[in-house]
This record gives sequence, structure tokens and C-alpha cells, in this order.
Amino acid sequence: MMTNYETNAVSPLMITKAFLPLLRKAAKQGTSTGIHRTAVVNVSSLLGSVELNWGPGAEFKTYPYKASKAALNMLTRCVAVDLTPEGILCMAVHPGWVQTDMGGPNELLGLAKKHPSIHVVTLDSIEQASKYVESLLGDEGLNCLINNAGINIFGTVEAEQMMTNYETNAVSPLMITKAFLPLLRKAAKQGTSTGIHRTAVVNVSSLLGSVELNWGPGAEFKTYPYKASKAALNMLTRCVAVDLTPEGILCMAVHPGWVQTDMGGPNALLSKEESINGVLSVIGSLSEKNNGGEDSFIPCYAIKIH
Ligand SMILES: NC(=O)c1ccc[n+]([C@@H]2O[C@H](COP(=O)([O-])OP(=O)(O)OC[C@H]3O[C@@H](n4cnc5c(N)ncnc54)[C@H](OP(=O)(O)O)[C@@H]3O)[C@@H](O)[C@H]2O)c1
Repeated sequence: MMTNYETNAVSPLMITKAFLPLLRKAAKQGTSTGIHRTAVVNVSSLLGSVELNWGPGAEFKTYPYKASKAALNMLTRCVAVDLTPEGILCMAVHPGWVQTDMGGPNELLGLAKKHPSIHVVTLDSIEQASKYVESLLGDEGLNCLINNAGINIFGTVEAEQMMTNYETNAVSPLMITKAFLPLLRKAAKQGTSTGIHRTAVVNVSSLLGSVELNWGPGAEFKTYPYKASKAALNMLTRCVAVDLTPEGILCMAVHPGWVQTDMGGPNALLSKEESINGVLSVIGSLSEKNNGGEDSFIPCYAIKIH
């Protein structure tokens, strides 16, 4: 809540305050009102409208964002009241739902447009996301949960970086699994045997999280926060596998290989397509032997080349 408020409401106000002498200088040189004279435009959102946040307009749930944009709208009006006598216009605009980093991943939205069975769900609130998925799946439950999101913050060993990596790479996949557990259980109850056709949780981990391999040449790539967080994820995968096996829910970790993504960089060995094909073929053939036992961590890339 505080971070959204700071970035979306307080910062635009502070920036306006800092630029006020310059804005006043321009305003003194003109007449009438508008951008040709002087204007402050805050890019807000319809989601910040208190009036519209009711009925269907309230379906998209994001308390921190909505509250911060409502505050920005109020601050815009406060500043407008104060600066209008000086000929400085101040207003808020809604840019529409746009294909940006915030609006949603372009490629994913493009795919969702082509294939109605793909739904893009925001993860502002894990609980809300699981409720939304439940409303889509009804009684069928969820067969496969893939926890893919991850970060690798390079740099020196600082507590903040250690904690951020740990939160995103280890704690969040566990919390997501916990929130989706009722849906996973629903699917598991409808099947027999073990595998993705019944119910599976797949955590995208990394060979860099292997304690065993972190020696000699395997230890050359130095990134304490990432390695520790993925080691923790591997342990949590095993913990969850132990607990959910009796219910027929498989839980495993995969290594996607060194992939040409934002994280892997352009020099990585595998294209996204190669990696995804490897991961999908591994996930598709999961069985009881992959659940919590020695084979519960699968390096997809190694499997692909042998
Ligand atoms: N690339 C490799 O060589 C490699 C090797 C081994 C393992 N892996 C693992 O593979 C997985 C995918 O990595 P990648 O290479 O695709 O990395 P990437 O290009 O950096 O993409 C990471 C994805 O995770 C999302 N994400 C990060 N933090 C998030 C958060 N707090 N909440 C929601 N989403 C978040 C990002 O979303 P935004 O863009 O919106 O931030 C982005 O879509 C990761 O778990 C990574 O550790 C990758």
C-alpha cells in the first residue's frame, strides 16, 4: 500500500512542487489556459475513480493501486484549485488499458486475443488470482500449476538483495501453491495415478540452486542471493511433495537450461522455444518416480542433450 502511494500519488506531487518555479515562469508569459501556456498532466487511471468502483467496475481487485490513483486524482484537484489563479492548468488523464509492462505482457495478450482459452490473470493479489481462476474452472479444479516467475539480482551480498530474491524465488511459489491448493485438490480427487494428467505443481528452479554442484567449476558463477533462494525453492518443493503425495498431487522442480531470456541474456545456449519444448516434454512425462524422490529435480536441458 505504501509503495504504491509513494510512487503514484506522493511523487507526482513532489515533482510538480519542484518544477513549480519553472511552470510559473511559463505561465507569466501567456494568457488563457491550456498546454500552450502551462499545464500539469498526471497520468492516472479509471481504476482510481471512487464513483466507478462498484458493480462490474469493481471486478478488477487491486487495493494498493486503486487507492493510490484515487489519491492522485484528489491531489490533482487540490493543485488545480491552488494554481488556477496563476494560469496553470492541472488535470488527470486515463490512458486506456494499454499493452505496456503494466497493462500486460504484449505477447501474452496477443495470444489471449487469438485463443479464447488463454486467460491472463494479474497477480497483484495471489488470493484474488486463485478466486478468479476458480471462477473459470468451476468444479474441474486445476491440473497443473507452474511457478515460473523469478529474479536474479546481481551485485554484492546485501541483506536487501538476499531477502528480495528469497521472497520472489522461494516464498512466493510456496504462497501461490498454498492459495491454489483447494483447486489442485479438486482436480486430484477426480483422477488416479500420478502426473500432470491428474495434478502437478512444477517449480521452475535452476541448477544454480544445487548445493551438490556448487563446487569447483560449478561454483564459478557467483550469485549468492539467487543460488540461496533456488536452493530454498528446491527444499520447499521437496517439503510440499512429501505433504501432498498422499493426496495424489505431484510436486517437482525443473531446470529450464541456460535460456535466451531477459534473465539468461543473448549469449545463453538455448532459445526460448528449445527450452520450452524441453520443459514441456519433461512435464508431460512426469510420473510417481519424479515425486519427492531422487528424481524430483529434473534438469530439462541435460535431458534434452543426452
Ligand atoms: N534464463 C535462464 O537462463 C534461466 C536458467 C535457470 C533458471 N531460470 C528460471 O526460469 C524462470 C524464468 O526465468 P526467465 O529467464 O524467463 O527470466 P526473465 O526473462 O527475467 O523473466 C522473469 C519473469 O518473472 C516475472 N516476475 C519476476 N518477479 C515477479 C514477481 N514478484 N511477481 C510476478 N512476476 C514476477 C517477470 O515479470 P515482469 O516482466 O512483469 O517483471 C518475468 O515475466 C525463473 O524462475 C528463473 O530463475 C532461468
